[in-house]
Amino acid sequence: MKSFIVFATTILVVNALTDLDHWHSFKAKHLKVYKNIVEEKQRFNIFQTNLRIIEEHNIKYNQGSTGYYMGVNAFSDLTPEEFRTIFLRKQVFKPDAEKNIKYATSHLRVPESVDWRDHGAVTEVKNQGNCVSGWAFSSTGALEGQYKILNNISVSLSEQQLIDCSTVYDNEGCSGGLIKLAFKYLRDNGLQAEADYPYIGQDGQCQYVESKLVVPMLFTTVLIEELNENALVHGIASLGPVSLFINAEGIQNYAGGVYDDSEKCDNSKDSLNHGVLAVGYNITGNYFIIKNSWGESWGENGYIRMVKGVNICGISLVGSVPIIV
Ligand SMILES: *[C@@H]1O[C@H](CO)[C@@H](O)[C@H](O)[C@H]1NC(C)=O
Ligand SMILES: *[C@@H]1O[C@H](CO)[C@@H](O)[C@H](O)[C@H]1NC(C)=O
Repeated sequence: MKSFIVFATTILVVNALTDLDHWHSFKAKHLKVYKNIVEEKQRFNIFQTNLRIIEEHNIKYNQGSTGYYMGVNAFSDLTPEEFRTIFLRKQVFKPDAEKNIKYATSHLRVPESVDWRDHGAVTEVKNQGNCVSGWAFSSTGALEGQYKILNNISVSLSEQQLIDCSTVYDNEGCSGGLIKLAFKYLRDNGLQAEADYPYIGQDGQCQYVESKLVVPMLFTTVLIEELNENALVHGIASLGPVSLFINAEGIQNYAGGVYDDSEKCDNSKDSLNHGVLAVGYNITGNYFIIKNSWGESWGENGYIRMVKGVNICGISLVGSVPIIV
């Protein structure tokens, strides 16, 4: 009986497409190639498990009991454990000896909504590939925002330089890193454009060329740490896109809507494992707009909206903005 119900629901949700149909279009869309038939079978089994998770979740979405829906994406042939291992890395946030400016929330009223994409302050969505470099994409994103706000020039900046070169500031390239260490590196060294120092998605030799720097050294980092969401809202409104760490364990299958599943991601500081960029918020809609670095085919064209008000996935625990002076 049970299997009949599941079967019936499947038909309903997937519009009579079989798992194999989904599998074939998934492989074609994401250019998936497997070593051999054994691996392909194993990946297909995982894919089917994910399809069931997606379908069950979307029933809840259609019933209105959750604000977001799931879908097949480039990660649909991975188990949650594999996903975590490949893309996420927990970081240790040590107390900071640095004199960073603490962001003080003012009593000024903030706009009802802000979206820095409307001001050209956000570059295209990028794709980190199989490299734990969300921290680098978050850092370049915040700096791209500041550069546009300050100079009215939109330029895509180099994550690869951060991956290759900020290791001397204790970052670990494709094994993970901290945004504040990236900013520390940038403050002392400056940053090249994406075009001059392109992304390869693996650890490499530091090869930056000083004469090609776009963003010069010397800026201060405004830390929005140990904050609350109010400070995050004010930071986004008054400073620009904000670099954040979140716990990204719950968003593997996210496809759209307002993510609100606090059970799928711990929101303690110890659990933060992925760098992202807050580019806006909407008070009436009760969400933050977050730019990710998993390509445009993930989420809402590469973005995720996350619910405001519950420190979802630790969103408001560690934030920073690099201020160019
Ligand atoms: C910013 O640049 C855009 C296009 O490059 C231009 O149309 C606009 O007038 C500039 N804004 C200011 C304030 O200079
Ligand atoms: C903010 O959210 C509300 C409610 O979902 C929506 O009606 C409105 O269009 C949103 N504002 C913007 C600027 O997107």
